[in-house]
Amino acid sequence: MKHLLKLSDLSQDELLLLLKTGHELKQKQKEGIETSYLKGKTLGMIFQKASTRTRVSFEVGMSQLGGQPLYLSASDLQLNRGESIQDTARVLSRYLDGIMIRTYDQQDVEDLAAFGSIPVINGLTDLYHPCQILADLMTVQEYKGQLDQLKFAFVGDGNNMANSLIVGSLLAGASIAVASPSGYQPDPAILEQYARHAGFLLTEDPVEAVKEADVVFTDVWASMGDESEAEKRQQVFKDTYQVNAKLLSAAAPDVMVQHCLPAHKEEEITAEVFEQHAEAIFDEAENRLHVQKAVLLHLMGVNAHVS
Ligand code: CP
Ligand code: NVA
Repeated sequence: MKHLLKLSDLSQDELLLLLKTGHELKQKQKEGIETSYLKGKTLGMIFQKASTRTRVSFEVGMSQLGGQPLYLSASDLQLNRGESIQDTARVLSRYLDGIMIRTYDQQDVEDLAAFGSIPVINGLTDLYHPCQILADLMTVQEYKGQLDQLKFAFVGDGNNMANSLIVGSLLAGASIAVASPSGYQPDPAILEQYARHAGFLLTEDPVEAVKEADVVFTDVWASMGDESEAEKRQQVFKDTYQVNAKLLSAAAPDVMVQHCLPAHKEEEITAEVFEQHAEAIFDEAENRLHVQKAVLLHLMGVNAHVS
């Protein structure tokens, strides 16, 4: 594993190893064990979109590993004045030991990796959000003790979360049913790739997707970059694509609910359901920190120190 650009780049073994390292690092932090494995290393973090969790978890994670995080706001970089991603990659590779980037176009992340000579981590694009799904899978392991054989459901916009969740769930051995309205379904290339996978179901009916589900995931109806469509999307999604008590009554009795946050309460999830599942949702947010530290260690080649 040289980069984390998308979950489909990982083998099942690599995925499970990252999760295992995440659990171990969480335990070490609880026990106050020193983890300065990345002393002298610097992670550049390029943000072309807003962030609370991704920025803070990577920044704190890098510090906890003894390394240095460097926040690079897109508005301060020459990238925003037209310097190419290719040249930016070649320059940053001379200073840094790794780059995390949150941007719009997945191709920019791929180019950064192709033209640079250091590990690149996708901190969210319009197409994928791999770090979030790693944290989600880690949280499901904590609550359910397993991933394989579980039934996952995603209700809402077929966005970056849905795309990465399809890939991550099937790679982990869970099944995944996605309920999205026509015109807002996941990426066509992903749908094509998994169309005949026995563990994958695409439907417009949330009740069908959620039926007997062990874990129900949702996310906002309008992602970053979709702001101009927000009102139109409200009309398309409202009522039907909401995770509420009635919908969850179709799920397994001990259903777990996950939301990557930020949440728009009373839109994709009711405040009632959110609060009932708040512990698991905020554990999910916390696990960004632990699993991303695992990613940093694996990419920076110091896995030997852990486990
Ligand atoms: N879930 C997530 O990626 O949150 P941020 O947008 O706050 O980073
Ligand atoms: N789908 C959301 C996820 C935010 C973490 C977005 O892209 O805005």
